[in-house]
Amino acid sequence: MRRILVTGGAGYIGAHICKALAGQGYQPVVLDDLSHGHRDAVRWGPLHVGDILDGAALDRVFVEAPIAGVIHLAGKISVAESSERPDIYYQTNVEGSLALFRAMLRHGVRRVIFSSSAAIYGATEAGRLTEEAAPAPQNPYGRSKLFVEYMLRDMAAACGLASISLRYFNAAGADPAGELGERHNPETHLIPLAIEAALGRRPDIKLFGSDFATPDGTCIRDYVHVTDLAEAHVRALEILPETASAEAVNIGNGQGYSVREVLQAVAHAVGRDFPVAMMPRRSGDVARLVADVEKARRLLDFQPRHSDLATIISTAYRWHSRGVSGYPPWA
Ligand SMILES: NC(=O)c1ccc[n+]([C@@H]2O[C@H](COP(=O)([O-])OP(=O)(O)OC[C@H]3O[C@@H](n4cnc5c(N)ncnc54)[C@H](O)[C@@H]3O)[C@@H](O)[C@H]2O)c1
Repeated sequence: MRRILVTGGAGYIGAHICKALAGQGYQPVVLDDLSHGHRDAVRWGPLHVGDILDGAALDRVFVEAPIAGVIHLAGKISVAESSERPDIYYQTNVEGSLALFRAMLRHGVRRVIFSSSAAIYGATEAGRLTEEAAPAPQNPYGRSKLFVEYMLRDMAAACGLASISLRYFNAAGADPAGELGERHNPETHLIPLAIEAALGRRPDIKLFGSDFATPDGTCIRDYVHVTDLAEAHVRALEILPETASAEAVNIGNGQGYSVREVLQAVAHAVGRDFPVAMMPRRSGDVARLVADVEKARRLLDFQPRHSDLATIISTAYRWHSRGVSGYPPWA
């Protein structure tokens, strides 16, 4: 069985990727410091508790048994926090990625899929963003992702490190079989926050900015179901040996929804309205981010099966309303 190292595999997206890998006959090997991940989400292979900044911990994983490729998700994820503590974001996301790539080269592993982000793009008035759009990250989080993409480009040319950076738009939803779901702490993502407000577990949901240049004034985002996103990683891993370069590929749904539209869809799915607290814009938020997914279709045969808004919300709602392993997912 081919072993794939998944850094950050105890986190939301990483755990769904591990499940998808196992379903395709791979063995996921997780390295996660559990700073935000969950031990009980690692169910499809071994867990090494360790930091990607720790070269010795990385060496231990690579010498234990051969690793065929790496999916690298470990990192800090909050746009807002990155503006307050850019040092931590550059340390974990940039230095940590460099430490990982160096360890890969020490052990002769030359294939990596990297979790990049739509945050590397700047604002767009209309239309969909192709991978050729000029990068213009608006916050340290987005810049940290872009630096790693540049690093991968240079390391492809100089060291033969083959990579695909998947630029995720908004990952959302939960495993359709109900085994996994979103458990960020603190939660900053719109759909789980709205579901918790609808379930009465939060007093309200905060809506940041209603004066953007969009039809209803709220930000427009592209939501992709986490299971579709996970499957794109397996596919990317499979085509990686053929590319032998550094590619960047958007992974989204190709359709945008405003914050207000998402809140209405959640209220409809849960069957309950909830208070919305109007807040000023947050720094670093852009009006509209919608993916052009033509390259993903062409290169990865990417055909999202679960990424319509109704399925995203219904799978997330099911996860949030049932709890997991004896304790609630929002704890
Ligand atoms: N959630 C989204 O919509 C989204 C969008 C674009 C990109 N991404 C990227 O996808 C990746 C996964 O995001 P997620 O939503 O699953 O977040 P998450 O916080 O659930 O997962 C990140 C995991 O990385 C681990 N981690 C953090 N620092 C580490 C370190 N130094 N060493 C080892 N492990 C460490 C955490 O414990 C956690 O399990 C991140 O790189 C994120 O930037 C996410």
